Amino acid sequence: MPDRSIKIAPSILSADFADFGREIQAIEAQGADWVHVDVMDGHFVPNLTFGPPAVAAFRRHVTTVMDVHLMIAPVDPYIDAYAQAGADILTAHVEAGPHIHRTLQAIRGAGMKAGVALNPATPAEAIAHLLDMVDLVCVMTVNPGFGGQSFIDMTTKVRALRAMIGDRPIHIEIDGGVTPATAPLVVAAGADVLVAGSAVFKGGSVANPGPYGDNIRAIRAAAEAATRG
Ligand code: DX5
Ligand code: ZN
Repeated sequence: MPDRSIKIAPSILSADFADFGREIQAIEAQGADWVHVDVMDGHFVPNLTFGPPAVAAFRRHVTTVMDVHLMIAPVDPYIDAYAQAGADILTAHVEAGPHIHRTLQAIRGAGMKAGVALNPATPAEAIAHLLDMVDLVCVMTVNPGFGGQSFIDMTTKVRALRAMIGDRPIHIEIDGGVTPATAPLVVAAGADVLVAGSAVFKGGSVANPGPYGDNIRAIRAAAEAATRG
């Protein structure tokens, strides 16, 4: 059976940008399963974040899984650079270009796990012919670009993906507006990886990391309760 235990992936988009190393160490010490890195290009989404050298610097502090979410177009010219930077999982948007099939082949070819992300307006069926070439499907529950936005209900899409995936070893990741209140909805529909930025980092800091742990435990508890139906 594929591993469908709940995994919490804090997004460092909500971390202190002057202190990424210690922020990553803090969230891992406080129970993060993965570290989610949001790469934005100011073109595919209206915000700019991390190039490959920044991601390589984060890698030195990550001991779990570095989950890199590319919100960039085009993707293909940068795949090798993010592989060199140490991404374990590299996710590209299905909307980022006409040749997502080639992109996913190239990601696996570079030795990484391949993820495909769907914007809120994109139907589950958009990836029906890609299921044998992905390790993760990321369902956006906000329009990508910024942390701290309100959750958009995509449970119908998650349910459809869960049915399409069947027994394949593919994670369903939810990204955007995840809190202890929204996590149960998507987990009950079949999601197993929960990205959370503002809901993990709120109230804490590297000097006071306890709230990060409280926040991660609160999301996990709400999510696991939903798996018990
Ligand atoms: C949105 C990013 C998310 C974001 C989530 O474009 O892909 O990963 O950081 O932030 P919250 O959890 O605050 O909605
Ligand atoms: Zn993300």
